Amino acid sequence: MPHQLLLFIHVTGVIVWVGGMVFAYFCLRPAAASTLEPPQRLPLWSAAFGRFFLLVRVAVAAILLSGGAMMYLRGFANAPIGWHVMLLLGLVMAAIFLYIDRMLYPKLRSHVEAAQWPQGAAVLNRIRQGVAVNLVLSVCTIAAALSAR
Ligand code: HEM
Repeated sequence: MPHQLLLFIHVTGVIVWVGGMVFAYFCLRPAAASTLEPPQRLPLWSAAFGRFFLLVRVAVAAILLSGGAMMYLRGFANAPIGWHVMLLLGLVMAAIFLYIDRMLYPKLRSHVEAAQWPQGAAVLNRIRQGVAVNLVLSVCTIAAALSAR
């Protein structure tokens, strides 16, 4: 597969993942917090994450596979340092997403189903912290990608 096609898949995945995190963190979170009480707000987040995390799973797989393929085709030893930094940060971001998706999100869903709002809010806050870390890492990763130009 030519480099341009791999890069297209890679950057499309990045847009879906990072763009979705920006929307959730900076738009939906303050809007939901100021207009909804926990019994409405937590089911909204649970339903929204259910859909978003499906997309992110596909995006993360596409980003890692296309990024790994571009590095393999260039040769790991010949790849600029920025690409290696991107690989490292990308793997950390994927691990944080996996933790949110596999560990925290099922807890949020079960608290919502049991109408346990304080416990659900505590889990939601941990998801928010994970997303905040990934947002900072994504800015660093994009900087690493562009530093190699
Ligand atoms: C396993 C993880 C990753 C690997 C191995 C990887 C590898 C690569 C490679 C080889 C390129 C091509 C660079 C070029 O053609 O100049 C690239 C481009 C890019 N990557 Fe990654 N990447 C990974 C994860 C990420 C993540 C998580 C992000 C963002 C959050 C990201 C953002 C970008 C951007 C914005 C470009 C376009 C850079 C440009 O065209 O100048 N990458 N990546």
